[in-house]
Amino acid sequence: MTMKREITVTVNGQQHQSEVEPRMLLVHYLRETLDLTGTHIGCDTSQCGACTVLLDGQSVKACTVLAVQAEISAAALAIRTLYARSSLPLSR
Ligand code: FES
Repeated sequence: MTMKREITVTVNGQQHQSEVEPRMLLVHYLRETLDLTGTHIGCDTSQCGACTVLLDGQSVKACTVLAVQAEISAAALAIRTLYARSSLPLSR
């Protein structure tokens, strides 16, 4: 049995308090716990970048970060901003 851990994360300026499995990925926390589906899952290999969010001003792949790590770094995520950027054409 895995003990859940309580985390407090600020997403788009709103503070959320949740109990999560220690191994829960940030992308799953955002999508499933907070229902912020603007963060997408596009691969299983950390290659596509569809899950990219801003974490303390740095872009990170949310599929490579644990939800508990987001709390540790006092996260401020800007999902919608990056979601809008990801819809731009990559090249002409
Ligand atoms: S889902 Fe593809 S890099 Fe994260």
